[in-house]
Amino acid sequence: MLNTTETSTIETSTIRIWDLPTRLFHWLLVFAFILAWLSQGDDRYLDIHVFSGYLFLGLLLFRLIWGIVGSHYARFSHFAFGWAKVWHYLKTLFTQQHSRKARIHFFGHNPAGSWAVFLILGLSLIVSLTGLLTLGGEEQHGLFAGVINFALGNTFHWWHNIIAWLMLCFIGIHILGVLIESRLHHENLVKAMITGFKVTNTSFKATSTSFNVPRHGLIAAALLLTVIAGTLNYFKGYFQQEQPYLPFVGPDLPDNASWREACGECHLAYHPTLLPARSWQRMLTEQHDHFEEDLDLDEETVTKLHHFAIKNAAESMLTEAAWKINHSTPLEQSPLRITKTSYWIEQHQNIDNNIWQHPDVNFQGNCGACHLDAERGTFEDAAMHLPF
Ligand code: HEC
Ligand code: HEC
Repeated sequence: MLNTTETSTIETSTIRIWDLPTRLFHWLLVFAFILAWLSQGDDRYLDIHVFSGYLFLGLLLFRLIWGIVGSHYARFSHFAFGWAKVWHYLKTLFTQQHSRKARIHFFGHNPAGSWAVFLILGLSLIVSLTGLLTLGGEEQHGLFAGVINFALGNTFHWWHNIIAWLMLCFIGIHILGVLIESRLHHENLVKAMITGFKVTNTSFKATSTSFNVPRHGLIAAALLLTVIAGTLNYFKGYFQQEQPYLPFVGPDLPDNASWREACGECHLAYHPTLLPARSWQRMLTEQHDHFEEDLDLDEETVTKLHHFAIKNAAESMLTEAAWKINHSTPLEQSPLRITKTSYWIEQHQNIDNNIWQHPDVNFQGNCGACHLDAERGTFEDAAMHLPF
């Protein structure tokens, strides 16, 4: 409906420019971006970070489709302006008189804003993709698990960071643009993205009521429901009793009954991925003097254990920890303690002394006190918790 009001000198009309799905997309994307930013950097929140990434990617896919089939102003074709128009717009933005009467008015995105939108959408896609590639390479999770190695994952991680910062810059420019245009053109663009309506002068009144885009409430509801269902599905592991740390459950690591029996008696049966092959070799050779204990294993058992340990040692790079332990342990060293490897020390150096003295922890090798998945050997970020 065209709603016309008389003011003292000019008439204004209120027109729905942004349909509901476009607005919902916009603010959910803002939410996902903030969440991603808050949860980055600390591996213990990686599950939240990855969630925000999936939300981000899902929203983008929706927007790509909506940019083709959506309502008038949401379509990419509507705001695909050439350079010349952008230049003209920017030039006239500050030179022209912007009285209420003579304002230039862009119903949808203005030419400069449209480029910001395309750049942000493009960077969003790249940041999501590099995120997925990092997740596949560094954590062996998600779509690219097992496809990309750790080193490549690291490279993508670097790009992921750079592009995220670049995005932040463009978002800054976008916000600045919104504020400038809102001021110069006497219109509240933020409010327009919330309510969907823009106030415009009446020269368009004659054209017709078809300026109002449809609300598309059903599609917005479907979008919202999909997001809610996806969120619940992603975090469902937290509602389960026996494994309160999903959603990161990778494939099971190779297991061995003899290993569990012989090495799980006095402490956790440390998974072979946690030390290089030469360490296990040395440990089994020196089995009669195992940290002042005599393991007293017969030859057949030693052979079995040896075979399992060598095959799945850190060099196998089955997990992130394996990869990092393998790469950070100098070849001339064969550490017998996981807790003496430089990677382990680096990972745990910030943990408070009184946590190590907590009765539930006792000693550094008691990995299970803080890693819910220590038995499985996966040492997932999301399965870490400090006993307090
Ligand atoms: C009879 C008890 C006993 C058995 C059986 C045993 N260990 Fe140990 N293990 C110990 C003790 C004691 C320590 C030292 C604990 C400490 O001081 O932190 C230790 C420490 C370790 C450590 C170093 C943990 C760290 O601090 O990083 C590794 C690795 C290890 N054992 C592997 C094995 C393997 C592999 C087997 C099976 C072949 C095995 N252990 C069987 C008693 C045992
Ligand atoms: C007192 C609690 C505690 C104990 C005991 C402990 N860890 Fe940790 N571990 C942590 C915390 C907390 C982090 C996260 C550090 C960070 O991300 O800043 C961590 C990080 C790690 C990581 C890195 C995970 C990743 O992907 O970033 C590995 C691997 C790991 N620990 C292995 C072990 C092993 C193996 C043991 C036993 C030998 C062990 N930890 C014992 C608390 C503990």
